[in-house]
Amino acid sequence: MKILAIETSCDETGVAVLEVKNGKFKIKNNLISSQVKLHQKYGGVHPSLAKREHQKNLPLLIKKVSHNKIDLIGVTAGPGLDPCLWVGVNFAKDLAKKLKTPLVPVNHIEAHILANFINRGLSSIKFPAVCLVVSGGHTQLILMKGIGKYRILGETRDDAAGECFDKIARILGIGYPGGPAVAEQARQYSLKIKNLKLKISLPRPMIHQKNYDFSFSGLKTAVLYDFKNRKPKERRSKKYIQAMCHEAQQAIIDVLIKKTLKAAKNYKAKSIILGGGVVANNELRKQLEEKTEKEIPYSKTYIPASELCTDNALMAGVAAYFNRGKKKNWKKIKADANLRIDTK
Ligand code: KG4
Ligand code: ZN
Repeated sequence: MKILAIETSCDETGVAVLEVKNGKFKIKNNLISSQVKLHQKYGGVHPSLAKREHQKNLPLLIKKVSHNKIDLIGVTAGPGLDPCLWVGVNFAKDLAKKLKTPLVPVNHIEAHILANFINRGLSSIKFPAVCLVVSGGHTQLILMKGIGKYRILGETRDDAAGECFDKIARILGIGYPGGPAVAEQARQYSLKIKNLKLKISLPRPMIHQKNYDFSFSGLKTAVLYDFKNRKPKERRSKKYIQAMCHEAQQAIIDVLIKKTLKAAKNYKAKSIILGGGVVANNELRKQLEEKTEKEIPYSKTYIPASELCTDNALMAGVAAYFNRGKKKNWKKIKADANLRIDTK
């Protein structure tokens, strides 16, 4: 089976072609056109500019992949930015009509989870699983009883974890996207010998609460207050920026790990599955793997390769494959910015 997939939910235009052969996904093309440079000056994604870029880039990417013998088209239908999603959905509908191919709408959160099947056998992951999806737009803990069986256990009440990284980077003036910028400054801090280190303490919001919800907007505010209380010379110093990035990153990681492991223990998860742009963070990957191994050795951690954590069409193709039974009349397919993953 050959699948063509389209992703335009946020600021990356993605087109991928993959083949399912001998129980594995074989990557034929995985093209991404990033808009990072365009959104840099806003410190976040500007929806109408993003829409315009998708309209410009999608036809260019489609031209670069083979349309030969496509059995199925998958398109991200939501959640995401409404004007951006519609570009992909409308394009996919036209293409499905032209190629006379079935079209499957894909849930972006499910796609982030199913990215873990790329380069792995189709039945390699054991259930129940607890999934943590953390990106610029979403932070959700999900109980997965099998493919297609999801229940949201908790989610952010305000900012997403990636959004928090992006806003902190903006306060500190270290660039966009914030995640990789904060991670690099934090890494520099870790390299320093002990006595040169400046200590900063930030809160770990909701870490001791019984629920599986998150809140990151207070953390960003705590960073802002600390920043404003420092003298201009100090807050522009490398020493301060590195110490702040280290502490902010660790605060986010602590909360994410604590709640994920609590859910995994509670639901006796055989697998912990990670997905979303924030999972590209090396410290999060390392610390979560170490803690899982120590505290719940019966649970196996699945983390996609870093480049498959951030938005791409390949994962939409994988999700389309698993949802191939749900192919719809393309005329009825709609984008839904608030699409939920819950099946019960
Ligand atoms: O999944 P994604 O590409 O787009 C959305 O669906 O939102 O995630 C983008 C987010 C951004 O907020 C970015 O700052 C964050 O992922 N991110 C990271 C890292 N790389 C990307 N956050 C922390 N550490 C990273 N290394
Ligand atoms: Zn995403």
